[in-house]
Amino acid sequence: MADGAFGLSKELAEETAPVWEKVKDHVTPLEWPEQARLISEINRLKRERDAVILAHNYMTPEIFHGVGDYVGDSLGLAKEAARSDANVIVQAGVHFMAETSKILSPDKTVLIPDLRAGCSLASSITAADVRLIKERHPGLPVVTYVNTTADVKAETDICCTSANAVQVVEWAAKEWGVDKVILIPDEYLARNVAAQTTVGIIAWAGHCEVHKRFTTQDIADMRDAWPDAEVLAHPECPEEILRAADFAGSTAAMTEYVEQRRPRRVVLITECSMASNIKGDVPEVEFVGPCNLCPHMKRITLENIRDCLLHMQFEVTVPEEMLEKARLAVQRMIDLPPPSKPARYDLVKARHHVDVELI
Ligand code: 13P
Ligand code: SF4
Repeated sequence: MADGAFGLSKELAEETAPVWEKVKDHVTPLEWPEQARLISEINRLKRERDAVILAHNYMTPEIFHGVGDYVGDSLGLAKEAARSDANVIVQAGVHFMAETSKILSPDKTVLIPDLRAGCSLASSITAADVRLIKERHPGLPVVTYVNTTADVKAETDICCTSANAVQVVEWAAKEWGVDKVILIPDEYLARNVAAQTTVGIIAWAGHCEVHKRFTTQDIADMRDAWPDAEVLAHPECPEEILRAADFAGSTAAMTEYVEQRRPRRVVLITECSMASNIKGDVPEVEFVGPCNLCPHMKRITLENIRDCLLHMQFEVTVPEEMLEKARLAVQRMIDLPPPSKPARYDLVKARHHVDVELI
């Protein structure tokens, strides 16, 4: 007989109470009993399957706080996939992230709860495009954002994420002995990186459909309404957004900034769930601003994570030859020394316009 909070059994109410504390601003008491049952079931299935859930910072709070064993940015998730000794990896994120996990852990079973969880950047470029780019610019290193498919990574010299893009570009230029590199497929990331380095950048016109929607008017409106708010932007945003921001970095760098500095009010210019997730850990910070959701990330739910573990679906595989080539590019990135300080973009440099060559 139910005798705990929300009509849950006492045991289940106690088991899930710490999660409720973190998600209660975002989940209604009406939704919670079903979510609490799913969280408990998923955590039990994880033990039975020897599975680990790698959850991106853009997952909804009940996934992020309830079932994620490792939560973080694209770079952190990739490193964890390489490190984990679980037999099964469940990627609570999008398809390219699951492929990256498979590339780094070919002997593990990698599952994604919904195969349709794509990415506008990953679908903006094909392996054939990369081959043509290389023909056009022989001798230049190809740096590819991890937000790409495995066959694109297989055509690449080294991968990067927003957390290490400047470091990777500078490493590639030095290693190849050139003053220009190809950085694809995110045009805005390429422009933002170009402003941080003296290395010349050749870019591709791919965009993140979430970050490209933010405008400087959004930021001006937020500053009018909340003059004390600090504005943090992701480098997938257009460069004028970074120029108008107070801080820019990967999702992990933004999280760290808020957790360490604890500003009274924050505008997060990135996918909306991230604010809800950080709020669970630092409830005293108020998050204000526009809410842009990634429709691909939002395909992942507690229900399909449960089904994923119950039926061991949907397995993500990468053909062997492609996997070996792609692994070289991803492993090179992982092997670079970690940056001495959290990857953050220098906003003084960001305010100086530096041109990129668009393919
Ligand atoms: P990071 O988590 O690497 O900052 O990337 C953001 C993103 O858009 C992932 O899809
Ligand atoms: Fe792709 Fe943008 Fe969604 Fe990240 S937020 S998965 S870059 S569409």
